[in-house]
Amino acid sequence: MELLGVIGNPISHSLSSVMHNQAFKKLGKEAIYVPMLVTTGKLKEAIAGAQALGFVGLNVTVPFKEQVIPYLTELTDQARATKSVNTIKFDGDQIIGHSTDGLGFEHALISELQMDLDKKNILLIGAGGAARAIVHQVLTHDCLLYIANRTVSRAEQIVNELSKAQSANVEVCSLDPSSLREIMDQIDIVVNTTSVGMEKTISETPIPLCLLEAKHTVIDIIYNPQESMLLKKARSKGCRVQNGIGMLVWQAAKAWEFWWGIHPPIDKMYETVKASLS
Ligand code: ATR
Repeated sequence: MELLGVIGNPISHSLSSVMHNQAFKKLGKEAIYVPMLVTTGKLKEAIAGAQALGFVGLNVTVPFKEQVIPYLTELTDQARATKSVNTIKFDGDQIIGHSTDGLGFEHALISELQMDLDKKNILLIGAGGAARAIVHQVLTHDCLLYIANRTVSRAEQIVNELSKAQSANVEVCSLDPSSLREIMDQIDIVVNTTSVGMEKTISETPIPLCLLEAKHTVIDIIYNPQESMLLKKARSKGCRVQNGIGMLVWQAAKAWEFWWGIHPPIDKMYETVKASLS
């Protein structure tokens, strides 16, 4: 039996175990995936413990994606660029860290909306960990990227960490509607990576809806609720919309490729996540 799991704190809300376990069942794969709560200060022991127990790999979620890096022996290009690890593979003595979040974002867009990122003008809202992963993925393409965040200095920090060539195609802006209005005409894709639209802000949107037009494709990485207020209103304006389930499923699919070099049953993963959420 192959062992895998996800580490985080909190972890009880994670959909990863049900998604991976249903996919194993579908393929008749002899593997089990468990959610594991890691307490503060015990991250190093958790990684060493999983290695000692013969785990194939782990996923890593909030708040450990950056904190885990010192305990790894190797990083992939994606993990190094984003300073974030959401997938670990144990390979003999090696503990290899990878990030599939950006890849998951891009593949969800290709698979659900048949859209690629080349030559697109993108407005990315937010400047947290998820935004950083998407920024790096987007900038592997010939795009123009605007990053808008409530705290502008966090967006500037992301840009400062980019190479000179990458940052040439990026501009930072505030969430102030009057400055966003000036750029909306050029924008093809709007991506929300903030938590606005979840829990206490369920009836809010990260930007005023009057800025959206039918020509915009609107992506919200929120998947609970499945249709955030932003997506609901964007859809009513005729925009193409996509929620965060695709990114969740595709980052998991890219983890399978990293662990075993195989593709999981994507449809089963979508079905499992949607059933768990509803
Ligand atoms: P993650 O790693 O999941 O991306 P994070 O690092 O906590 O999470 O980032 C959350 C993002 O949501 C940030 O861009 C945050 O803006 P600030 O950098 O200004 O904190 C944004 N965010 C959270 N609540 C918000 C709100 N009420 N209005 C606007 N932006 C908000």
